[in-house]
Amino acid sequence: MQNQKILILNFGGQYDQLIARRVRECKVYCEVRPYTMTISEIQEFNPIGIIFTGGPDSVYKEDSYHPAEGIFELGIPILGICYGCQLLAHHLGGSVTAAEDLNAREYGKTLTFYDTSCLLFDGLKSEGISWMSHGDYMKKIPKGFKLAAHSQKCPNVAICDEKKKLYGVQFHPEVNHTENGTSMIYNFLYKICGAVGDWTMEDYMHHCIEEIRSKVGTGKVLLALSGGVDSSVCAALFAEAIGSQLTCVFVDHGLLRKDEGDEVEAAFQKWNINLIRVNAGERFLSRLSGITEPEEKRKIIGEEFIRVFEEEGKKIGKTDYLAQGTIYPDVIESGKENAETIKSHHNVGGLPDFVDFKEIIEPLRLLFKDEVRELGRQLGLPEYMVMRQPFPGPGLAIRIIGEITEEKLAILREADYIFREEVEKITSDTKMNQYFAVLTNMKSVGVMGDGRTYDWAVALRSVETEDFMTADWSRIPYDVLDRVSRRIVNEVSHVNRVLYDITSKPPSTVEFE
Ligand code: XMP
Repeated sequence: MQNQKILILNFGGQYDQLIARRVRECKVYCEVRPYTMTISEIQEFNPIGIIFTGGPDSVYKEDSYHPAEGIFELGIPILGICYGCQLLAHHLGGSVTAAEDLNAREYGKTLTFYDTSCLLFDGLKSEGISWMSHGDYMKKIPKGFKLAAHSQKCPNVAICDEKKKLYGVQFHPEVNHTENGTSMIYNFLYKICGAVGDWTMEDYMHHCIEEIRSKVGTGKVLLALSGGVDSSVCAALFAEAIGSQLTCVFVDHGLLRKDEGDEVEAAFQKWNINLIRVNAGERFLSRLSGITEPEEKRKIIGEEFIRVFEEEGKKIGKTDYLAQGTIYPDVIESGKENAETIKSHHNVGGLPDFVDFKEIIEPLRLLFKDEVRELGRQLGLPEYMVMRQPFPGPGLAIRIIGEITEEKLAILREADYIFREEVEKITSDTKMNQYFAVLTNMKSVGVMGDGRTYDWAVALRSVETEDFMTADWSRIPYDVLDRVSRRIVNEVSHVNRVLYDITSKPPSTVEFE
C-alpha cells in the first residue's frame, strides 16, 4: 500500500531531520529533499503537503535559495518554517527585510501570541513560548494572507491563507522549546493536508530494507557489532535486507556482563550472516594488568579494540560498505562542542580507516532511541536486546574500581546479574534508566556463620535521567534492595557487604570511574 507522503524541501536549515522526525511521530511518512526539486519531480513525488525548512540565508539576496517556480500554484498545502515562511512572503507579494530596522531580531525562547482561529493553531493555547532564530522578518504580509501570530518584538510571526492552504511560521515548531510545536505540525498534517496517519515502523522497516538492497546491490557490507541496541538493530536490518552479504565482527573483550556475548550471538542465529565473534578476553585482560587509572583503562581498551578490529578487517579484505548504527542523537551530539572532558567516552563508532571500503551507510541516522527499539522489535530481535540499558564501551572494566582481574570480573558479573534480575521483576513502570553493580576496591570485616570474613563490598547504582548529563538516584523500594543484598551476599562468594549509591549527577557521575 502506498503511504501518504509529506515532502520536506530543505533550504539549508539545521533542523530538517528534526522536522522529519516530528512528521513521522505524527504517523505520516515524509522525505527530505533538496530545494532544487523541479515541479515535475514534486508532482511525481505526489505529496499531500510540503514543508519548507529554515535556511541560513536572506530571501532577498541574489544568490539565495528559492523553490521551483509555480510551486504555490500546485494546490498542495505548504507550511514554511523560518526562512521557509519568509519565502512565502517574498514570493507572494509581501516583503522581508533585515530585522535590525525594527530591532526585531529574535533568538531563543520568545513569548508568542497566536490567533487560534487559524487551523494551524486550532485547539491550542493562545499564547506560549516559541523558539526563534531569525535576523530577518516579514515586514509586510502577502496579499490574501491573514496574520496568525505575533510576538512582543515582532509584529508578523505567522501568516496563513486558509483558502489556498498556505501557512508560514517565523519560529521553529519542530524544536522541543516551542510549546505545542508538535501539535502545530499535527494540525498541519491532519487538519490541513488531510493526513490519515497511515505510516508505521513496519512500513519504515520495509522502506529501509528496500533502500539498503538497492544501494548495496551485490556488494559486501561490514559492521562492528557491540551488542548494544543501536549496532544490534543496525545489524538486524542489514541481515534482513542482504543476508550473507553482511559480515559482522563482534569483539568480545571479556568485559561484558553475564551471558551477554552468548546472547548477542544467539540473537543473530536466525539470519544467514557471517558473524565473527572474536573472543579476545585474555588479550584485553593482560593489557589491563596492573592498571588502576580509569582514563588509562579506557585508552587501552579503545586502542586494543581498534587493533582487534583491524586484524579482522585485514582477514576479510576489501569490503564495499561499512555499516554503522549512528542514531539521530549521535548526529546532533557530534555537532556540539563539549567543554571539558570529564570522561573520554569510548564508542565503537570511530572510522576504522584501515578497512578498505567505499562508503559508510547509516540507516538509523534519522531515528531516536525509542524508534530504534521499535524497529528492532519489528525485525524480531528479542526484547532483552531492544530494551537493553546503555552499557559503556569499556564495559565492566570501569565498574571494577582499581585493578581488573578474572576473579573480580566473576564476582561483579554475578552480583550485577542478581541486581538486574531483581530490578527487572519490578521495572515495567519505573523510570530506572541505568542500573548496575560496581565492585568497589574496599574490603571490610563481616561475620558469616560463626566466622570472621574479610571480603569485598559491592555497590549498587541506579539512576533516573533523560539525557545522562544529569541524573537522580532511583528510589528503589527497600524490600527490593533488601532482596538484592541478601541474594548477593548469599550467592556470590567473597562479598560480605552491599552498599546503595544515593548521590545524584552532578556531583557524582553515573559510572564510578
Ligand atoms: P557518566 O559516568 O559520564 O555516564 O555520568 C554517562 C553515561 O555514559 C556512559 N559512559 C560511557 N559510555 N564509554 C561509553 O561508551 C565510556 O567510557 C563511558 N563512560 C560512561 C555511562 O554508562 C552512562 O550511560
